[in-house]
Amino acid sequence: PGEREENETEKGLRIHAKGFLNTAVIRSEITYIDGEAGILRYRGYPIEQLALHSSHLESAYLLIYGSLPTKEQYRFFETEVMRHSVMHADAEGFFRSFRYDAHPMSMLTSAFAMLGSYYNEANPSLQGQRLYTKGDKESLATMDRQIYRLIGKATSLAAMAYRVRQGRDFVTPPVGLSYTGSFLFQMDHLGEEDYVPNPVLEKALDVLFLIHADHELNASCTTVLQTASSLVDPYSAVAAGCASLYGPLHGGANEAVIRMLVSIGSPENVPSFIEAVKRREKTLSGFGHRVYKTSDPRSFIVRKTADEVFKVTGKDALLETAMALHDAAMKDEYFVKRKLAPNVDFWCGLIYRAMGFPMDFFPVLFAVPRVVGWLAHWRQMMLQEGGVKIWRPRQVYVGAGKRDYVPVEERV
Ligand code: ACO
Repeated sequence: PGEREENETEKGLRIHAKGFLNTAVIRSEITYIDGEAGILRYRGYPIEQLALHSSHLESAYLLIYGSLPTKEQYRFFETEVMRHSVMHADAEGFFRSFRYDAHPMSMLTSAFAMLGSYYNEANPSLQGQRLYTKGDKESLATMDRQIYRLIGKATSLAAMAYRVRQGRDFVTPPVGLSYTGSFLFQMDHLGEEDYVPNPVLEKALDVLFLIHADHELNASCTTVLQTASSLVDPYSAVAAGCASLYGPLHGGANEAVIRMLVSIGSPENVPSFIEAVKRREKTLSGFGHRVYKTSDPRSFIVRKTADEVFKVTGKDALLETAMALHDAAMKDEYFVKRKLAPNVDFWCGLIYRAMGFPMDFFPVLFAVPRVVGWLAHWRQMMLQEGGVKIWRPRQVYVGAGKRDYVPVEERV
């Protein structure tokens, strides 16, 4: 009061946009979303085409480097990623130090930060601050190594978080399997010499990985960039992104959907649940999106993938309830008026459940592929024209004006 209005600054009007509703913070060439039309493209390629013809690792190359790889480029990329999936033996002790019931997302988040302590070459403070320069082969090779490591080790760390809670030994990544096949091997392998993942489930998980790989400036990707804008190493930035993804409004939603369906129990309880959502006593998890104002295009791919998985695993007992809930919400005035439709998480949990993953592991199955998107954006930011500018938003101050200190004896 009586002081200069905080939102009129020497740099012009300061806009207060709660939750960044309409704030662009970067120019990007990576992912395009049209939320009204339900369109998602990676580097210009429609997500439906990639899900049908590409693989997670090929799309990872596309997202990070900007074009689909040639055979040689792909072979090199795949070899490097897989080679870097092997973990340092000390990491075993790190995982064994968690409580038996630790949430796997807490373990994964900590593990990404732990990884940073292994690679001083990625730490700008130790390397004279600015590390990465376009056209400088050596710095680009250093950057690539961090990318291979983080993508490769994401599956190994996730599998370690899974196995440690079961009191099982850790498994060295196998040679000769695909990225997703290697992940399933590290998760499931019980010592059988002839273990191979079921090809239908491997393909299904690969498609889910691919469609989760990037989604432009969602909360976790923004967190990665915000963190990286101080030039911290990418392991710390990815750990920050992983922490953001953990929340039930973001990557935790696939777990929340299943908990919601279990609590509803059966289709006849759907109408009373919908009424509770409308009274704002409950949230319909897996519905609604900041950007999509129609069905999330990924939800159709997930629904189709679910049918293929169920042919192998049998139908999930919650499917009927999920379908009843979906159909009821899609016709209800409350949801129609607010343009609330299924997002990628609505059907995903049912697939993960049918495949035998524990519920609290679902967000990990989101985090592992999303490492790709985080790194694509990190690389773009590090190499952007004019260098990196630290992200330092401003606030509109609405607190008290100047006050004089009152000694404790005089306070009432
Ligand atoms: N259930 C019930 N009502 C909802 C839901 C929902 N899932 N989502 C939004 N609404 C309502 C809001 O209450 C609000 O109503 P009002 O205008 O009467 O106040 C209106 O729809 C607009 O919603 P906002 O909260 O303003 O939407 P916002 O863009 O801030 O939030 C979010 C998007 C967080 C995804 C929200 O829709 C939500 O909480 N969904 C459930 C959680 C979920 O599925 N998250 C996964 C997102 S996708 C992803 O991370 C991969």
